[in-house]
Amino acid sequence: MTPNISASTASDKAEFYQDLELQIQGVTDGQRNWVTNLANSSALIYHGLRAVTDKPINWVGFYVLDQSSPSTKQALILGPFQGKVACTNIDFGRGVCGTAAAEARTMLVKDVHEFPGHIACDAASNSEVVVPLVLDGRVIGVLDLDCEVTEGFDEVDQAGLEVVAKYLVQACDWRGVI
Ligand code: SME
Repeated sequence: MTPNISASTASDKAEFYQDLELQIQGVTDGQRNWVTNLANSSALIYHGLRAVTDKPINWVGFYVLDQSSPSTKQALILGPFQGKVACTNIDFGRGVCGTAAAEARTMLVKDVHEFPGHIACDAASNSEVVVPLVLDGRVIGVLDLDCEVTEGFDEVDQAGLEVVAKYLVQACDWRGVI
């Protein structure tokens, strides 16, 4: 009988997130530009997570506050990412990203087709996790990950990504965003 060996385990992923924190601290050392730091962070998360997990993660990136949007109608605009071309503008309260931004809390969505108003940038995506970036109580952006299968993300991802989001908020100058 063939033993049921999974390509990755929960502890591999927990270790990955511990290491990710150090890697992000490394690439942001001496650098506070938000475009630069979010670009390198999305690359580290995308390539690192795809290497450690057997889940087909297909998009990792950021949306930030859109300064061209009036304060009465807050919106997000596409920032640095890894993956296919994505939707450029998302109003607060719309889709998974806009809901995470409006409610200032993480959305861990096991099946995007069950999330009312989910925005299908890529029809291949079936699950998603979105973590808000919160500076002094104000949402200034979100970190968004998509996966091609349902249940692509779990609480280990949520916890690891929340640490990353918190770190990045403090590690960047947000000129142009706030
Ligand atoms: N699915 C997201 C839109 C962004 S893409 O996934 C990159 C949403 O519902 O907000």
